[in-house]
Amino acid sequence: MSADDVGHIPVLLDEVVQSLAPVRGECCIDATAGRGGHASAIAARINPGRMLLIDRDRDNLAYASARVRDAAPQTRVDAVHGDFRNVAEIARNQGMCADLLLADLGLSSNQLDRADRGFGFQQDGPLDMRLDQSAPNTAADLIATLSESDIADVIFQLGEDPFARLIARKVAQSRSQAPILTTAHLARLVREAYGSRARASRLHPATRTFMALRIAVNDELRGLEALLKSVASAARSMDGGWLSPAARVAVISFHSLEDRQVKRTFVSLADEGLARRVNRKPLIAGDREISRNSRARSAKLRTITLARTP
Ligand SMILES: C[S@@+](CC[C@H](N)C(=O)[O-])C[C@H]1O[C@@H](n2cnc3c(N)ncnc32)[C@H](O)[C@@H]1O
Repeated sequence: MSADDVGHIPVLLDEVVQSLAPVRGECCIDATAGRGGHASAIAARINPGRMLLIDRDRDNLAYASARVRDAAPQTRVDAVHGDFRNVAEIARNQGMCADLLLADLGLSSNQLDRADRGFGFQQDGPLDMRLDQSAPNTAADLIATLSESDIADVIFQLGEDPFARLIARKVAQSRSQAPILTTAHLARLVREAYGSRARASRLHPATRTFMALRIAVNDELRGLEALLKSVASAARSMDGGWLSPAARVAVISFHSLEDRQVKRTFVSLADEGLARRVNRKPLIAGDREISRNSRARSAKLRTITLARTP
């Protein structure tokens, strides 16, 4: 495993470690193992402890578990291919009671950079975008089956693109001639829908459309909602066995709709006296981190410590 093939720089790494404050012998769930950047830093601190890695992407999961085992040889590492919306069930099946839980949402840079995964528009590839490659529906399937107005709603609500209706119209016109199966085809349609407005846009015109489709294909907002519900139930002792009474829970989000969900859950648990917020405001990356990792620009980290009566 060389530094080159990691393909992803973990965001807010120092902040995550400081906020979660891992201690020797503890148990951690990394619900989005990715390339194991955060997990290996945490594992080195809990070593000898226990680490449960979850990811929807089998390649990332295998990579992360090898990396974490290297970083913390005396730590027990279990890897489960699955969706974090089932975190409580996965943890219970593994007999895990976690002191630490981390979710670093979205996708990793190596996923974005691989043309065959279809997440990006910089290179041409199949219009796929599935985080779990065994999931049934790709972005091409969504584009083929949603109505024009549903496509517009997805691009407007999840991508906040003001030209969503124009883009959906272009897509509908084009798919009536031939199916839209590649990232380059979709990116060209978005650019055409923007027309001369593309020149005024700081971002590539397809950025928001691609992000919106990815979130829709992977049902990401509902997955996050389920994860947060599981944490809230554990904090309320309704389903507490998988999280320790004083567990620390950290979520890194990259989208305002995700951050809103995290903030709402954490504030209401704090208001009920069931958790303490580690920071009132989300932690964000400084200029230095952003200059070496542009992905960090939109990252927001929120952390709570549960205060459940054991
Ligand atoms: C931003 S990356 C995590 C990077 C990781 N923290 C690191 O330092 O390498 C997000 C990862 O979460 C995975 N993922 C996204 N949504 C998921 C979900 N609902 N359940 C499980 N894994 C998910 C993606 O496949 C990806 O590997």
